Amino acid sequence: MNKFEAIKISNNVFWVGAIDWNIRNMHGYATHRGTTYNAFLIMGEEPILIDTVKLDFYDEMMSRINSIINPNKIAYIISNHAEMDHSGSLVHAVNAINPKKIYASKNGKIALEKHFKNSGLNIDTVENGEVLDLAGNSFTFFETRMLHWPDSMVSYYHNDKILFTQDGFGMHLATTHLMASDNKKETIRYEAAKYFANILMPYSAIAKNVIKKLMDLDLEIDLIAPDHGPLWNTPELIKWIFSLYSEWLEQKPCKKAVVLFDSMWHSTEILAETIADTFMHKGIDVVVVSATKNDRSDLATEILECGILMVGTPTLNNNMFPTIADHLYYLKGLKPKNLIGQVFGSYGWSGEGVGQIEKIMKDMGVELIGEPLKCIYVPDDEIIGKTKKLAESIAEKLLNRS
Ligand code: FEO
Repeated sequence: MNKFEAIKISNNVFWVGAIDWNIRNMHGYATHRGTTYNAFLIMGEEPILIDTVKLDFYDEMMSRINSIINPNKIAYIISNHAEMDHSGSLVHAVNAINPKKIYASKNGKIALEKHFKNSGLNIDTVENGEVLDLAGNSFTFFETRMLHWPDSMVSYYHNDKILFTQDGFGMHLATTHLMASDNKKETIRYEAAKYFANILMPYSAIAKNVIKKLMDLDLEIDLIAPDHGPLWNTPELIKWIFSLYSEWLEQKPCKKAVVLFDSMWHSTEILAETIADTFMHKGIDVVVVSATKNDRSDLATEILECGILMVGTPTLNNNMFPTIADHLYYLKGLKPKNLIGQVFGSYGWSGEGVGQIEKIMKDMGVELIGEPLKCIYVPDDEIIGKTKKLAESIAEKLLNRS
């Protein structure tokens, strides 16, 4: 008896992936709601497996496959992306199935062979735009380099009009509702945005062209099937996720400010609250993020649809506060664009923290408005007045931009 069953998603295709309910950290990304690793089985004279799952979930995938066919009936495996959450089970699956062929992009073949050295994987490559007929199941492959690895490709399955997009359009969300339309819209919007911010944002400049080319193809799509989270299954949802991606790729400044801070004895916190209150009175949405109490990947999500980044730190042992360093180091790698902001903080003696952040913000391309704000020990009325003035000038700059 199979513990897990496959789920039919179209005429010929079954979902045979796995649900990782309790993963809470995926290489530094806080997955508060778990995730799924989606793999797909296309039935027909010569069945095809699209992607596999993280190695820990190999048995779950095989159990789902077993619930509909003997796995050794699978004739082909298509690997859209070489990262281990989708390829981790590949060698085990190949040994169990013994497929006629494995297909991947040119870079995919290189990446898979480098991951699984001496495994004897025999991979055929497909070109960008190549059409392949596998015993009546027809595909076109499109390279999507840097969306989000050099090897990434998407596979369009003509028979059922499904676009298999590996990480693209995905999200980390463990759910029994495989179709996006069966999930709460605010949840899937938030998790899709979080995924974009943390995984795809650094490659926006390249990804913009890739996505545009994909959209320009004007493919008839009934289902977008990413390798994580729910599948986009209605014309409205497909249009919606395409339009959200178009917005996120641009990162146009929004009327929102993120105030990131940490504090030792509440002084920097008082400045953060003063800034937030001033923004609020200027009609700007504000999110105040304590670096101690929040995860860096949640900060990144807030930054995606934002216009102002304010960062506040105390100085500890001649340095910025370590939690702030962690958040900024991570954020810098994600290359957010089109932000204005400033740095603030309390100090006791030398106060190097503010200057260190100023340098990082400049390196990140954040346009700094006015002067950094430093406060000796505890803010008094004069400092509060200066803080409000600074926040007002930054708010006005943003409002004049919008
Ligand atoms: Fe879900 Fe880039 O792997």
